[in-house]
Amino acid sequence: MGLVGGRLEERVRHTRVPALALEHVLAPYRRPGDDAAFEAFVARRPLHVEIGFGRPHFICDLAAQRPDAAVLGFEIKRRWVGAAARRAARDGLANLRVVEGDARPYLERLVPRASVAGFYILFPDPWWKKRHHKRRLFQPSFVELLGDLAMDGGELIVRTDVDAYADLIFEEVPDVGGWRLASTDAADPAQLALPRSHREKKCQELGIPAFHFRFVREDRP
Ligand SMILES: C[S@@+](CC[C@H](N)C(=O)[O-])C[C@H]1O[C@@H](n2cnc3c(N)ncnc32)[C@H](O)[C@@H]1O
Repeated sequence: MGLVGGRLEERVRHTRVPALALEHVLAPYRRPGDDAAFEAFVARRPLHVEIGFGRPHFICDLAAQRPDAAVLGFEIKRRWVGAAARRAARDGLANLRVVEGDARPYLERLVPRASVAGFYILFPDPWWKKRHHKRRLFQPSFVELLGDLAMDGGELIVRTDVDAYADLIFEEVPDVGGWRLASTDAADPAQLALPRSHREKKCQELGIPAFHFRFVREDRP
């Protein structure tokens, strides 16, 4: 699909910064042995994936809430990867693994098709400037990739407090990659059952309204 240029294996292998040496961090291509560990982790079911978890409130609470599930998180910022891994160690979250880096090439290459029960993308970076719009996560190719990786009946949960980003999600997601809009209700029981991310807690404190999308992957023919 080619969402991100260059060969991931080469780019990651040649990075000079060593991967974080923490039990809950996986560094495929970057650290010998982690490719197999990653492959084994994504073979677990149900598999839940958070993209851009930031401060690790949601991902750690989800892993604690769902000890039966394998919870995998991707985050570009090393400090939040470290924070999630340290909290996972402290709280004994054996079902949580985090990867430092852009989620997209890892998803594209290393996560099996029709495997993911839940994707969570909470308060994605809005990239306000027009010339930066191409950096937004929600592009048709990305939505298609998520649809390809989701199992039948799998969910895509997206939350945002940015009106323009909510419009983009309305435009980009339904009917692409097999996603059907199931709810935009913040009081949807499926949403209420989920933890809150750091940004969402902040919005609640400050009285900023947020959009809550729940998409469901249609069954494959
Ligand atoms: C606005 S913050 C929201 C953090 C958190 N989800 C929350 O709701 O509090 C967006 C986060 O996504 C991360 N991010 C953006 N693009 C990403 C990508 N392609 N892969 C992994 N993380 C990404 C950023 O580093 C940032 O921490």
